[in-house]
Parts: sequence; structure tokens; C-alpha cells
Amino acid sequence: MKSNDSPKTYRVKSFGCQMNVYDGERMGELLEAKGITPAAEGEDADLVVLNTCHIREKATEKVYSDIGRIEKSGREAGKKPMIAVAGCVAQAEGEEIIKRSPGVGMVVGPQAYHRLGDMVDRAAKGERSTDTDMPENAKFGALPARRRVSPTAFLTVQEGCDKFCTYCVVPYTRGAEISRPYNDLVEEAKRLVDAGAREITLLGQNVNAWNGEDGKGRSVGLEGLIHALAALPDLKRIRYTTSHPNDMTDALIAAHGEVDKLMPYLHLPVQSGSDRVLKAMNRSHTAESYLKLLDRFREVRPDIALSGDFIVGFPGETDAEFEETLQIVDAVGYASAFSFKYSPRPGTPAASMENQVPMEVMDGRLQRLQAHLSRDQYAFNQASVGKTCDVLIERKGRRPGQMLGKSPWLQSVFFDSKLQIGDMVRAELVQAGPSSLQGRVLEMATA
Ligand code: 5AD
Ligand code: SF4
Repeated sequence: MKSNDSPKTYRVKSFGCQMNVYDGERMGELLEAKGITPAAEGEDADLVVLNTCHIREKATEKVYSDIGRIEKSGREAGKKPMIAVAGCVAQAEGEEIIKRSPGVGMVVGPQAYHRLGDMVDRAAKGERSTDTDMPENAKFGALPARRRVSPTAFLTVQEGCDKFCTYCVVPYTRGAEISRPYNDLVEEAKRLVDAGAREITLLGQNVNAWNGEDGKGRSVGLEGLIHALAALPDLKRIRYTTSHPNDMTDALIAAHGEVDKLMPYLHLPVQSGSDRVLKAMNRSHTAESYLKLLDRFREVRPDIALSGDFIVGFPGETDAEFEETLQIVDAVGYASAFSFKYSPRPGTPAASMENQVPMEVMDGRLQRLQAHLSRDQYAFNQASVGKTCDVLIERKGRRPGQMLGKSPWLQSVFFDSKLQIGDMVRAELVQAGPSSLQGRVLEMATA
């Protein structure tokens, strides 16, 4: 393809969080509305969108090496693909990417990608552009209606973050906290359900900070939105992620006891078990206040599966402070968790703190932490054996004839039965592995 041809096919590669997955899908829909179709598997696309993540490790370098790889693969196929860099690295680096990479035609931030279509048209004329504006909510109104949907769908309800944890780049790349309007969200949820979604996960960097006015003009929090979505008959399951301990409300906790469709699962990052470290992270909660909060969820929903995020090796973290993280892990008994080595992010306060922890110390701590977390995940799975529950089938498994779905507690459940993607089955959990379960179909579940 010559550089000034309009692209016919595209591929979006999304990295990082689920909000990027959502943004990636919406960029795809936008390109399809322009008549650009998804490239077939294994085929070089005319337009590649790198939807990047900046949260940890050498994000920027990774993007430049990805660009190099796309260009090389294009050259070998006799093409010069159009390349767009989107997501949080685009927001952080902006114009710099255009300067450093002559092959990149577009740099577009997470709040500006509704203008990607125009940027593609300009790139086809050889004009390179950068758009890292942060207009509140503007993109949602400008995007085409939802189209591509699987049985499980993401719905971004809240974006940005005002918390400024000292290690985190999100407040700089995603901007201030904003909530999308209630009516727009109920409308988008209806469209997703009409298109076949049976489970919706409400997304936000601080999703439990979502607030708005319901159809009757009353101020509501996330629980209000959950109640509204629960009233959609064909929607069977609702989840939300990620929450911040400080934004948790009585009403949202209560919803876990009131709304059957709200799944018994909570992702509530704690990051560290040491109050000194939590303070240095600017988390404004303590280990104890976090544990008390979890108790309140367990009161209304005793079977709730708990999940969290952890950072080891925050600057100045001592061995004793790391032990406190192991203690909180042992006290909670997580069903699943995500754990990371601290990674200094340019421009964040923690990056210039003294006492950065050596890599080999972080490696050792991460290994020990993950041993505790894997042990607890396995124990949670083993305790599920013998339970009967609904499983929503999401995709094929790796083995021929195998199908994979999710339990209410977000565990992966495998079946060796003839099932379709989108089926909701009543199943017995018969065998536990470290990170999944084997299920036996009892019957097709009814609504
Ligand atoms: N280094 C390591 N982990 C980080 N996270 C966020 N910023 C950093 C960083 N600089 C982790 C946190 C957060 C998750 C999404 O990523 O645990 O909850
Ligand atoms: Fe980052 Fe903290 Fe905001 Fe989460 S709450 S996005 S960790 S600043």
C-alpha cells in the first residue's frame, strides 16, 4: 500500500486494563463505520492502532519496538501500514512519538479517539496529527452506536482519577474523575443487551465513585445504576471494577445483598498491608479500615469472592513492612489477585523518592507474595467443589470440544460438553485446579 492510500483493513492491539479493551472495541466500531474492516487473522492490516498502557515498566520503549516490528512485517509483505498510537502512552508522550517515529501517522489520547476517523483521512493525505485533548465526556456522544458484542461486555461508566496515589500515572494520563450520565449508560446497556450481552461489567478507574442523576432526577451512586441495569430482563449478570476503598458507600455494599444479578465478586485493591507504606502511597486508608470494609461485604454476601492488587518494593519498603502485606493477604484469603513489582513512573512523586528497592529484593518479595496468593486461590477453588451454580459460556477451551465459562465468583470453569458461546448452564463444580475448575452440566439454566 502506498502511504497516501485510504486503509481498507485495520487491527487494534489493546494493552493493559479493561478500559483499554473497551476503548479498543469502540475505536474498532468507529473505523468500521468508515467502511474499514478488521484484518483477517495472520494478515497485515493497512491500519494498525496500538492502544497502549503506561502503568508499569518500560511502556514507552515497548511501543517503539512494536512500531518497528509492524513496519518490518509491513515491508516484508510489500506494504507501508498506517500506524496510530492511542492510549496512555500516547497521552503521556504526545508529539514526541511523531518526532521519534517517522512511520507513525497519528497519536491520539484516551479522551480524543472519537476524532480518529478524521485523523485517518488526514493521514491518507500524508498529514500526520496528534490529539491529546481531554474534553469531558465528548467522545462518548461522538462515537457510533455499539455493535460488536459477546455474551460478556464492558461498559465504561467512569473515567479518570483524582486520588493521586504517589506511584501512579493514571491521574496524569486519564485526567480528572468524571462520571458518564445515567441515561446514556442505561441506553448503552440496553443496546448491548439487545445485541446479545448477558453480562455487563461496569468499568472505571474508580468505578465506585460513579455518581449521577437517575431518570427521576434523584442523585444516585453506582448502586442506582446497578438497580437500573438489573431491571433489564435479558441481562443476567452485573459486575463492576475497579473500586477504591475510600469511595465505598453503604448503598453499594447493601446492593450486594439486594440485587441477585450483581455477582458475588469484589475487586478492591489494597496495594500494601503496611500503614506506613500506605501513607507514603497516599492511599488514605489503613490495613485495618480496609479489613473492616471487607467484613461489611461479607455480612451482606457471605460467599463473596475477594480480589485485590498489590505492589511490592514501593520506595523504602522494609522487610518487616513487606511481612505486613503477607499478613493482610493471609487475613483476607483472596480468591484471586494481581501483584506487581513497583515500577517508577516518570513524573510521579514516588519516582523521585529515596530508598528505591533493589530489583532482586523486589523479585524475592513478589515470589513470596505470589506463593501466598496462589495458595489462597487454589484453596478458594477447592472449597467450591461440590457447589452448584450458573456458568455463562464465553469461549472455546484449548482442547477440542472443550468450552469455557465463568462462575458467579469469576472462576474459569471448563466443560467437555457440547455447548454454545452465550449459553447459561446450571452446573456442578466437580474438580478444582490452581486457577480453574472442571464443571458438569446439570441443565441449561433458565432465566
Ligand atoms: N508500579 C507497580 N504497580 C503499579 N500499579 C499502578 N501503578 C504502579 C506502579 N507504578 C498497579 C496497582 C494498581 C494496578 C492497576 O496497577 O496495583 O491497582
Ligand atoms: Fe492510580 Fe491510585 Fe487512581 Fe488507582 S486510585 S488509578 S492506583 S492514582
